Amino acid sequence: MQIKIGLISDLHIEATKANKEIVPYLINAIKAADLDIFVLAGDVTPKLSEFYEILAEFDKADLPCKKLFVPGNHDIWVNKSANMTSEQKCGIISEICQDHSFYSLFDTPYISGDTGFCGTIGWYDYTFAPEGYDFTTEQYAEKQLMGTVWSDKRYAQWRDTDENVTHRFAKELGQQIESVKDKVKRIIVVTHHVPFRACIRYRGKLPWDYFQAFMGSDVLGKLCLQEPLVTHVLFGHAHYAVNKQVKNVKAICAPIGYLHEKPTEDLQTYVNERLTCFTLQEATLTKEM
Ligand SMILES: [Fe+2]
Ligand SMILES: [Fe+2]
Repeated sequence: MQIKIGLISDLHIEATKANKEIVPYLINAIKAADLDIFVLAGDVTPKLSEFYEILAEFDKADLPCKKLFVPGNHDIWVNKSANMTSEQKCGIISEICQDHSFYSLFDTPYISGDTGFCGTIGWYDYTFAPEGYDFTTEQYAEKQLMGTVWSDKRYAQWRDTDENVTHRFAKELGQQIESVKDKVKRIIVVTHHVPFRACIRYRGKLPWDYFQAFMGSDVLGKLCLQEPLVTHVLFGHAHYAVNKQVKNVKAICAPIGYLHEKPTEDLQTYVNERLTCFTLQEATLTKEM
C-alpha cells in the first residue's frame, strides 16, 4: 500500500511574530501535499493555552490526513509554581490531542495498512557528549556552562535523572515496536530528540559542543537499528534539516526553528520547503518536494 507522509517539527509558536504566523501556511502546505499521514514531532509551545489553540487551528482546517504527534522538550516544560510534573503535563497534552483529532503517538503506536508508527519524546543521557573534552556526568547534569543555561534545567520536571528518563522512554518505544512488528511490514519511528550521533553538528568550540549532550541519545538510534523492520526515524529538536541514511535507517528532521530573522522568501514558500514529504511504496522511498 502506498502512503504519503509529511513531517514538520519545532514550530516554536512562542518564539517570534513570524513563528506565531506559521500555522495557516503549514495547513496550506499540508493540503497541497495531499498527505495520508502528517507527523508533528514536537516543540509546539510551552504554553498550554497556546498549545490548545494551535491544535484547534489544525482541527478546524479539517485536514483529510491522519495527524500524529509526539511532544518536544519545550512542550513538557512547567513552571515550578504550577505544581505539576512533566509527566502530568504529558497527560494533559494527550487529552488535548484527543480533543483535536491528533493521535498521541507517544501513548500508543499507530498502524496504517502495512506500516506501523511508533513514537516517543525521547530524551538525553549524555551519550552525545562531545569528544575531546573531559566534562564529568555531574557537569552535564548541571546543564549550564560559561553563563549559558539549558532551559530544561529550570522547566523540565521529570523528578528523575536524565539517564533514567531516557531509558524509560526508550523502553516504552521498544515495547511499542514489539507490539506492532508482527502486524506490519515496516515501522516508522518518530522521536523529538535526535537518535543518532551522526546527526549532531559539533563545532569544536565551547559552550556549543557541551550543549550537544542534550540533543538526544544513542539508545534511541540503537533501538531503530536493531529492528530490521524500522526503515525511517523522523525527529525534531535539532533546528536544522537532516536527511541522512544511517545503516539501514533513513533519519529525517524537518524543523521550522526560531525565525528571529524572517526568511528572505515569503513564509508560504519557506513552510512549503520545510515540510518534508515522502511517498512509501513496497518499502522503497521517493523524495518529493
Ligand atoms: Fe526546538
Ligand atoms: Fe526540542
